[in-house]
Amino acid sequence: MSASTDYHRLESSTGYSKTGTSRSILAAAQKRSKLPDAEKNPLRNTETVTEAPKEERYVFLYELAKQTGDVQELRDHVINTLIAGRDTTAALMSSTIFIVSRRPDVWAKLQAEIAPLKGQPPTFEQIQHMVYLKRVLKEVLRLYTVVPINAKFANKDTMIPKGGGPDGESPIFIPKGQMVVWHTYAMHRREDLWGNDAAEFRPERWEGLLPVFNYLPFNDGPRVCPGSMGQQFALTEASYTLTRIFQSFSKIEVVPEDVHKPWIENLTLTCAVNGVNVKCWK
Ligand code: HEM
Repeated sequence: MSASTDYHRLESSTGYSKTGTSRSILAAAQKRSKLPDAEKNPLRNTETVTEAPKEERYVFLYELAKQTGDVQELRDHVINTLIAGRDTTAALMSSTIFIVSRRPDVWAKLQAEIAPLKGQPPTFEQIQHMVYLKRVLKEVLRLYTVVPINAKFANKDTMIPKGGGPDGESPIFIPKGQMVVWHTYAMHRREDLWGNDAAEFRPERWEGLLPVFNYLPFNDGPRVCPGSMGQQFALTEASYTLTRIFQSFSKIEVVPEDVHKPWIENLTLTCAVNGVNVKCWK
C-alpha cells in the first residue's frame, strides 16, 4: 500500500473523504503559510478552513492545522505518523510472514492455536490468550526489529552509569549536544545477552522470560512507543490481522527462487531488502 493510498484512508477514516476536507485544510494551511505570522493560526481565520467537522471527532490533520500553517511541517507530521503507526506494524507482519513461510513447525503451532476459533474472527479477549502467537511476535521483534537503529542528542551534560572503561563497567560522561547512537538490531542478536542460540528464531525462549533493557523493539524511557496507543494497538492489530490471514490459507510457502535469500536489514519504510514473496494455498 502506498503512502498516497493511506492518505485517502486517513481522509475516509475521518468521515470527510467526499468533501475533501483534508485537502482543503492543506490548501488553507498553504495559503495561511504566506500570511504574516500573527494571522497564520486557523482559529483566527475560520473562513480559510472551509469545512469544520460536523460532529465532535478528533481529526488529526484538522487539529494540526490549528497549530501551524506551515505546509512542510504539516506534511512532516502526517508522514511521521504514518511511519510510526502504519509502516512499523506492516514490517512486523511482513517479517512474521517471512518466518512462517520458511518454518512449517511455527506454522503448525500457530494453526493449532487458532484452530479452536473455527475460522471465526478472534475477539480482543481471545487475542490476549494466544500465548504462542505472542511469543512469535516477540521473537520477530527481536530478530527483525522494526526500528533497528536509534539515536538521541543529550540536551544537558549527563552520565551514563555503565559502558565506559576497559571492562565497560565504568560510567561515561556525555556532554551537552553529544549524539548517542545505539544499534537495537545488533543488541537483539548478542550471544552474551541471549545465549548461544541468539541468531535462531525460537519463540519458545520467551517462556518465563522477562527482558529488560536488552530488548528494546519499542525503545524505552521518555520516548518509548506510547503504551496503549502504539505498542498495544500494534500488537493487537498484528495479532488480529495475522490470525485472519492464517485462517484463510492452509499453507504459506516461500517462492522457490527466494528460498536461499536471507532477510536483509534495510532502513527504509519497509525493512526487508529482499521483500517477502510467498505462495498461499486456500
Ligand atoms: C510494531 C509496531 C511498532 C514498533 C516496533 C514501534 C516502535 C517505536 C519506537 C522504537 C519508538 C521510539 C522512537 C524514538 O526513539 O524516538 C516509537 C515511538 C512512537 N510510536 Fe511506535 N512503534 C510501533 C507501533 C506504533 C503505532 C501503531 C503507533 C500509533 C498508532 C505508534 C506511535 C508512536 C509514537 C507517536 C511515537 C513517538 C513517541 C514520542 O516520541 O514521545 N507506534 N515507536
